[in-house]
Amino acid sequence: MLRPDINDLLTQTGPGTPMGDLFRRYWQPVLHTEELPEDGCPPVRVKILSERLIAVRTPEGEYGLMDEFCAHRGVSMFFGRVEEGGIRCPYHGWKYNAAGQAVDVPSELDNSDFCKNVKLRSYPLVKVGDILWAYLGDPAAQPPLPSWEFATVPEKQTFTSKRFQECNWLQALEGGIDSSHVTWLHGGGPSGKGLEADPLFAGSRGNHYNKNDLKPFFEVVENDGGLLIGARRNAEDGQYYWRVTPWVLPNFTMVPPRGDHPMHGHFWVPIDDENCWAWSFDYHPARELSVKEVDAMRAGAGVHSENIPGTYRPVANKENDYLIDRDKQRTGELFSGVKGIAIQDSSLQESMGPIVDRTKERLVATDAGIIKARQKLRRAVEALRDHGTEPVGNVPEHQAIRSVAIVLPADQPFVEGIGEAFQARPGVPQTTV
Ligand code: FES
Ligand SMILES: [Fe+2]
Repeated sequence: MLRPDINDLLTQTGPGTPMGDLFRRYWQPVLHTEELPEDGCPPVRVKILSERLIAVRTPEGEYGLMDEFCAHRGVSMFFGRVEEGGIRCPYHGWKYNAAGQAVDVPSELDNSDFCKNVKLRSYPLVKVGDILWAYLGDPAAQPPLPSWEFATVPEKQTFTSKRFQECNWLQALEGGIDSSHVTWLHGGGPSGKGLEADPLFAGSRGNHYNKNDLKPFFEVVENDGGLLIGARRNAEDGQYYWRVTPWVLPNFTMVPPRGDHPMHGHFWVPIDDENCWAWSFDYHPARELSVKEVDAMRAGAGVHSENIPGTYRPVANKENDYLIDRDKQRTGELFSGVKGIAIQDSSLQESMGPIVDRTKERLVATDAGIIKARQKLRRAVEALRDHGTEPVGNVPEHQAIRSVAIVLPADQPFVEGIGEAFQARPGVPQTTV
């Protein structure tokens, strides 16, 4: 349970809010590179942290991210014309460069003098991996570029998708660090077909441990960039199967791996307080993804979703009750009646309403990761707000992290047992069961 003011503190990310200020200390994913596919292509609307922006790629290949609205009389620059060195407003021809600086105001005699004083708010936009990342904060506090392993392995080893999610970012994050729902929602409980039904999960020993122990025990350990959330289930011979989910502030998590399948994880990026982008990635640290794997990801298997063509909204969404199939729910073929892990998650997270009322919840022991993450977020927000303390998670050392799945002797603490396994190491395969 959370006090209403703390719920507001953690869920509101617009300009000037304390959590918004925290988010503005991190590079955040804003566009898939396919959205600005070539030099001089049409601009794209971006809404992030409740700011309405426009992203451009000039004919010279420069990326820019600026206020969506023309400084003259507020026309949306989405309708602008991308030209050499920038974008021109179609209404009266004011032109801006990629940094949002006015460079031509044709109606003015002293054109260049006038231009000097006209600049749209703008932010750096850089390509790392398949993603264009933006930093919306104080330029003086700009952290190093993102260095997450999934975004820095060779291109053929990684795949990224995104989907529109109609709820606040925090309840999506909380779904991501809540390993206890996997057995039920995705696995179908003790008798369900479980994760074996998904080509990107099938065949791992971990699936059986997941299914055979419905009472996972959680142990949460502090880590430099956030938390390591360990979920322990029984394995054979009195040993334990541990699934270790790292959470790095404020909105990055990785799902523990299964067999030699690619490893996956998410960012949940606030669009505004009632919507977010669920970014999902899959990568293998030591091999290329197969054509079959990538085809399955594109088709919405694993953590990805099948989206309405030309959009990032899932085909199964709030408007159509996620295409719930009551027959399959009844027979147990699909425990929740909803197909696909990503939509199983989004259907329930969105069903709580745009911002869940956390004053009414009743948390139990399996919510330990969620409780600790909220505490840590709150401390980081307050430390930045009250003392200007820089948050963790925005430097390469904290981003060099992996999830882990491992079987350990019963008396070994998981942190000791996983050793270096939770650290990203170029070319070294993941530790997985
Ligand atoms: S509104 Fe853009 S140039 Fe007039
Ligand atoms: Fe899930």
